[in-house]
Amino acid sequence: MKVLVAPSILSADFLNLGDAVAAVERGGADLIHIDVMDGRFVPNVSIGIPVVQALKRVAQVPLDVHLMIVEPERHLAAFAAAGASMMSVHAEASPQLHRTLAMIKKLGLKAGAALNPSTPASVLEPVADLLDYALVMSVNPGFSGQTFIPESTSKVRAVRNLLDAAGNRAPVEIDGGINTANAAAVTRAGAEILVAASAIFGSDDAAVATQQLREKALEGLPVPLREN
Ligand code: DX5
Ligand code: ZN
Repeated sequence: MKVLVAPSILSADFLNLGDAVAAVERGGADLIHIDVMDGRFVPNVSIGIPVVQALKRVAQVPLDVHLMIVEPERHLAAFAAAGASMMSVHAEASPQLHRTLAMIKKLGLKAGAALNPSTPASVLEPVADLLDYALVMSVNPGFSGQTFIPESTSKVRAVRNLLDAAGNRAPVEIDGGINTANAAAVTRAGAEILVAASAIFGSDDAAVATQQLREKALEGLPVPLREN
């Protein structure tokens, strides 16, 4: 079993995004997580297509685009063209989730469905076989720097079980309040992709923080299963 670390640039210095990407890649980042917010699905407005395009020019690792927007289906092709490799839409924002996931896959990207903390894991049951990953939000989306909601750990386990029951080994991603104190608990519950913004870019050294997060995350896996 592998653990992927996905630093979220939401807490990076926006004047120096290229440096931020280089630092986390030095620290072994597997993905760059990009939080797109529209001020409607979530209370905050963040970044959009031109920033994804710019990051694509410098990133060595795939871009993981997290769409926290209403009507995400209207923008999938543009984010794909901008350089996203994987893209998640919120189940709460996608009344035709099945179709939206199929559209992402048709664009050649990995398709993920994200769940707000108050949305039950069971919402993913009808699309379990379609998912390339599932994103469990461990804070209410909209801002970095919030506190991890403890119930999210059992949500990760529930989503893992649901995917396993569908015969789908797609990874569970967790996002929100992840740090070295809770990384092992979430990987123990089945999370394989860990997103972190403030724990990485709020530290003195983003490269070291990326590396430390991975080390802690691996502690949650049984020794024979640790691949990295
Ligand atoms: C929250 C975003 C997260 C956020 C995580 O709405 O989806 O990706 O950047 O920030 P931290 O790790 O600081 O909770
Ligand atoms: Zn995110």
